[in-house]
Amino acid sequence: MFTSGHAVRFVVFVGVLLFSFASSNIIEEENVLVLTTNNFDDALERYSHILVEFYAPWCGHCQALAPEYIQAATKLKEMGSEIRLAKVDATIEKDLAQSRNIKGYPTLIFFKHSSPINYNGPRKAEGIIQWLEKKTGSPTTIIDSLEQLVAFSNTDKVAIVGFFASETYTTIFMGVAGKMDKLPFGLCTNKDIFDSTLSGNDGIIIYKGFDEKKVVYNDELNATKIENFINIHQFELVSEFSQELSERFFEANIDRHLIFFAPKAEVSTDRSIDLLRSIASDFRGQILFISVDTSADQYKGIIEFFGINQDEIPCLRAVILQEDVARFKQKEPDLSEEGIRDFVTDFLSGKLKHDLKSQVVPDDWNDNPVKILTSSNFNEIIIERKSKKALVEFYAPWCGHCKALAPVWDLLGK
Ligand SMILES: *[C@@H]1O[C@H](CO)[C@@H](O)[C@H](O)[C@H]1NC(C)=O
Repeated sequence: MFTSGHAVRFVVFVGVLLFSFASSNIIEEENVLVLTTNNFDDALERYSHILVEFYAPWCGHCQALAPEYIQAATKLKEMGSEIRLAKVDATIEKDLAQSRNIKGYPTLIFFKHSSPINYNGPRKAEGIIQWLEKKTGSPTTIIDSLEQLVAFSNTDKVAIVGFFASETYTTIFMGVAGKMDKLPFGLCTNKDIFDSTLSGNDGIIIYKGFDEKKVVYNDELNATKIENFINIHQFELVSEFSQELSERFFEANIDRHLIFFAPKAEVSTDRSIDLLRSIASDFRGQILFISVDTSADQYKGIIEFFGINQDEIPCLRAVILQEDVARFKQKEPDLSEEGIRDFVTDFLSGKLKHDLKSQVVPDDWNDNPVKILTSSNFNEIIIERKSKKALVEFYAPWCGHCKALAPVWDLLGK
C-alpha cells in the first residue's frame, strides 16, 4: 500500500518522466539541437524551419563553422525566431547521413515544412541569419486592391492567388506557397475583391500568360491536392524546353514526359505543336508534353541522349524519369493525331518496350573470332541461335582490367 508520501513521490516521478520524454529526446548544445536517426523526423515535424548541419568531428571546415553556427543559433533564439539550427554527427549517424545523400562535410540543409533546400549561403553568423530570413520571409504577396490583383496576375508565366476569408485555409495555402517557392503566390483576404472574382467564395485562381489564361481550383482545400493542381497547371499544354523549365519539370512530380523534337519556327512544326496541344489537354496530370527546338545548338546533348539521328527529325519520344531514365519511341514514326494518341495511350498503359540506346553494329562485327555485339544484334546472335554456346564479355572501354583482358580474349576466341 502507498503511504501518502509514496504517492506524492510517484506523481512527481511520473511528472518527471513525462516531462523528460516530451522534451529530452532532442537535446541542445549551446542552442544547437543535436539530431540523431531516432529524433530526426520528429524534429522536422516539430520545427517548420530548421537548418541542419551534417558534420564530421575531424573536419576542419566544420570546426571553423562551429562557433559561427552557435552564434547564429543563439541570436535567432534570442530574437524569438521560429528558425532553429541543428547538427548531426554524420560519422555516428551514418544511416541518416546516407539517406540524406550527404557526400561531404559540412553539408547544410534547410528544411522548410520538411522540404529540403540545400544551404549554399555564407559561413558567418550574420550571413547565415540573413540567408535564413530571406528563405523564410512570407511566401505570399498580400493583395488588397483590384489594381494590385491586376498587376500581380498580369504575367506571361503563372501567378497563383488564394482568396480566403478563413484563417485555416490561409495557413494551408501559405504552406503550399512556402514549398513551391519558385512560383509567385498572392494572398487576398479582402472580401470586396473576391466578390468580383469568385462571387464571394473562398478559392484559388491560377492566372496564366498562356493556354486558358485562368483556372479556378475548386476541389477541397487540401495541401497535397492544391500542390498537384498547381504542378499540372504551371506548365503550358506543350512547354518549350529550356534550362530554366527543366529544373521545374524535375520538381513537378510528373515523371512521364512526351517530347517532340523539331526545329522551331517552321510551319510544319507549328502545325504539329497545335495538334499536340489539343491532344495534351486530354492527358493533363498524367504526362507532360514538351517540345525541343532541334535547331538550337544547346540541345544537341538531349538529341544525342535519345539516340536521335538528324534524318529522324521531327519525331516523338517518351520518357519515364525515374532513377534510370527509360526511353520509348514509336514503332513507326507517325505524327498524325491517331498515331500520337495511340503512342501516348500505349505508353501510359505500360504497353511499350524500352528503346535501349544502342551503338550501331559495326560493319566488321563478324570478321574476327571475337564477335562484336550491341543491343541491335545481341538477340539475333546470342538468344535466337539457341544451339550454340557463347561466352560474352560485357566491358567498358575505359576499364583497365578490360583492356588487360582484350588480347587474352582475342587469343581465346581464336
Ligand atoms: C489530402 O489529399 C491526399 C491525397 O488525395 C490524402 O492522401 C490526404 O490524406 C489528404 N489530407 C487531408 C488532411 O485530408
